[in-house]
Amino acid sequence: MKFLFSLFVAGTIMMTGALAPVAQADDAEIVTAKCVSCHSMKRVCRALGKKDLAGWEKTNARMVKKGMTVSDRELAKINRYLAEAKPDATICQ
Ligand code: HEC
Repeated sequence: MKFLFSLFVAGTIMMTGALAPVAQADDAEIVTAKCVSCHSMKRVCRALGKKDLAGWEKTNARMVKKGMTVSDRELAKINRYLAEAKPDATICQ
């Protein structure tokens, strides 16, 4: 039983380790997929490092009004990603 439990713990640790970087890449993909449907990422990248989280929440609420379709969860992810991203982020390459 003890052995099975350690196997379970080891498996869980390995899985979280493998999934963490994937979650990061996903966020960048969501941002790009949503934003380029109306304008280039240049417009977004120009504002990276200038807007804080509140600034991006405000901007993206405006994008939603213009017709961007996102779930609340996606929107929260996008705002967090953009607030932390630098002008040389993956989405701007
Ligand atoms: C439905 C169309 C649409 C989508 C989707 C969209 N935008 Fe926009 N965006 C616009 C339009 C139109 C403008 C120019 C007019 C304006 O600034 O209000 C704009 C301008 C901007 C600007 C420059 C103005 C400012 O306030 O700094 C930024 C930054 C921006 N968008 C970010 C984003 C981000 C980030 C996303 C994706 C999460 C996104 N947009 C998705 C339509 C869209």
